[in-house]
Amino acid sequence: MLNPRPAVLRIKEYHPPLGGRVGMRLDFNENTSGPSPRVRERLALMTPDDLARYPEREPTEHCLARFLKLGVEQVLLTNGVDEAIHLLCQAYVDPDDEVLIPVPTFSMYEIYAGAAGATTVTVQSDASLRFPADKVLQAITPRTRLIAIASPNNPTGACASEEELLKIAAAAPQAALLVDEAYYDFCGHTMLGQIGRVDNLFVARSTQGRNYQGLGFTTGEERRTMCTGQNTATNFNRTNGARIATVNAGFTIQNLTADNFAFNLKQNITHRNFINIAIKR
Ligand SMILES: Cc1ncc(COP(=O)(O)O)c(C=O)c1O
Repeated sequence: MLNPRPAVLRIKEYHPPLGGRVGMRLDFNENTSGPSPRVRERLALMTPDDLARYPEREPTEHCLARFLKLGVEQVLLTNGVDEAIHLLCQAYVDPDDEVLIPVPTFSMYEIYAGAAGATTVTVQSDASLRFPADKVLQAITPRTRLIAIASPNNPTGACASEEELLKIAAAAPQAALLVDEAYYDFCGHTMLGQIGRVDNLFVARSTQGRNYQGLGFTTGEERRTMCTGQNTATNFNRTNGARIATVNAGFTIQNLTADNFAFNLKQNITHRNFINIAIKR
């Protein structure tokens, strides 16, 4: 009988409660106002041919690189941050390596680390739920190959400071440090400025349902890091051609610079404040 690899069988099942919803999932941080009108216009113009063709990633990566003020070789389009995590595990993590994860946090780090056959080493936050920088530093071993840190974190909202993240990157040169900035817009602190300076740093940003609509990207120092990612990514991304193709149709980039971005962010923060008030009642 055909069975998946033992590492895959050991992964905890994840069933996001997405089916048949009417309301909003607060913990998914979905965009409360949908894509900008320009995105909708572009989508309406898409033809079956646009969706059928193998997508070209480079034009969008060039636009993104300009937007982020990075070199194009430092930017990798992914199908959401989820794929970026997957790719980092594929590229850097071998069975029996350690993946270090401060918890509680987003569940996909542990799932992809498990699928790679790695040992997950979790570092528990204390009751303050602040980012446990010292405990992360203490947990690094020569077997640590990936450290996954969401900043701001889901579900605690805790941010790691640049100083803490730089210390961690320096303490684990043998490991990829992923700083997942999916919620960057809520705090405004970013590690993007360190890309190209810190060899083992990757910064990921999201998209889906948040502010950029339909695109994820990871950045990292060029040759060794991003080239490995590029090679791995090509195969995975192709299967999701439609999504990348729509990105390449240019609408995402229009959205990046549109007023709609600021509008969405304001709306998300306003809604979050309503929720806070309602919870306190
Ligand atoms: C911290 C964090 N990173 C990444 C993601 C997933 O991002 P994407 O939809 O771009 O794959 C989530 C989704 O909830 C998240 O909470």
